[in-house]
Amino acid sequence: MYLQELQLQHFRNYTAANLRFGQGINVLLGENAQGKTNLLEAIYVLALTRSHRTANDHDLVNWQTKTAKISGRVVKAAGTVPLELTFSRQGKRAKVNHLEQARLSQYVGQLNVILFAPEDLAIVKGAPTVRRRFMDMEFGQMNPRYLYNLSQYRTLLKQRNRYLKDLQHKQKKDLLFLSVLSDQLAAYGAEIIAARLGMLKKLEHWAQVIHGEISQGREELTFHYATQVPDDQLTDPQTICAALTALYQKQQEKELYQGTTLVGPHRDDLHFQVNGKNVQTFGSQGQQRTTALSVKLAEIDLMKEETGEYPVLLLDDVLSELDDARQTHLLTAIQDKVQTFITTTSLSGITRQLIKDPTIFQITDGQVVADGDKGSGGATKED
Ligand SMILES: Nc1ncnc2c1ncn2[C@@H]1O[C@H](COP(=O)(O)OP(=O)(O)O)[C@@H](O)[C@H]1O
Ligand SMILES: [Mg+2]
Repeated sequence: MYLQELQLQHFRNYTAANLRFGQGINVLLGENAQGKTNLLEAIYVLALTRSHRTANDHDLVNWQTKTAKISGRVVKAAGTVPLELTFSRQGKRAKVNHLEQARLSQYVGQLNVILFAPEDLAIVKGAPTVRRRFMDMEFGQMNPRYLYNLSQYRTLLKQRNRYLKDLQHKQKKDLLFLSVLSDQLAAYGAEIIAARLGMLKKLEHWAQVIHGEISQGREELTFHYATQVPDDQLTDPQTICAALTALYQKQQEKELYQGTTLVGPHRDDLHFQVNGKNVQTFGSQGQQRTTALSVKLAEIDLMKEETGEYPVLLLDDVLSELDDARQTHLLTAIQDKVQTFITTTSLSGITRQLIKDPTIFQITDGQVVADGDKGSGGATKED
């Protein structure tokens, strides 16, 4: 799939923009603080209805106004889909094909994006929340069922945690209601864990191939899903559900004491191993970078496998962070395959040689100028 058009109204530092993109590599060129990341963010938000940079939708609205709008046209094998998102004080509204969607989980998945920013190294190095968020965002995009289960799980988790806190102040504890909440939570939790395991298996396969190529066969990347559910019970949702229920029972005292739910997918983690060693703790910086890059590139293949379409790739200031070998790998992997948006302050060195026929946009203070002459700056290679 690719994003053919994008319109912005009062989004961040854009007053109004109306853009038409190329199907290949689109380069967003500009000095710092001009709006390059804001533009990538707009595409990301159009796909997922929420930003990767802020949890507060209001940050997306231009400071001088109250309402922001992002709209675009996505071209897929099955046809062209107009998408529209409006952010205002009343909340957000999402339209597909000009029809308002009651649930955001029905909207997400129309446009699939993969964002790769320098912070993504945190997938390997950062806290477990980063990796859980990574799984939830990526798998949610590919699978509406996953998103639905996740939102049910979150609601129930809040309820159960609130109830556990309430119980702390009660002499006589109604454990029956707690067990009702536990059963419901375990059912959704098990669906999430089972879906994660299935998706991770596929993602691992693709990441392994890529990591092997970048490391020239010297390193083998493997994934390990870290959870309190015993390994031999990590099978179907029913078995996982029973295991979760047993774990709640076992830890009931502790949960009542701490007033919070201690087991489930919101506590799980994902470990990346290179040659059998956890790369988070034992990996060199190079291995950590290769791992992050392999996992990100693997998502492209996984999305294609799951949805039948390649996603749109958003690369925010990453090329300058990668050495020549990794840049070459990245750009050859996506060339002619994946519509890509690359932000950079200058197009030079190996990047310029590697990118064939880019569509270039110059960004200055929230204004975008499309570079009509594609050959300018020697960015094009004649074939
Ligand atoms: N809600 C907003 N309204 C207006 N301007 C904003 C808003 N949010 C961020 N900005 C401005 O956007 C600019 C940053 O843009 P950004 O895309 O991050 O820059 P870069 O080109 O370096 O990636 C800053 O000047 C910031 O003040
Ligand atoms: Mg930026």
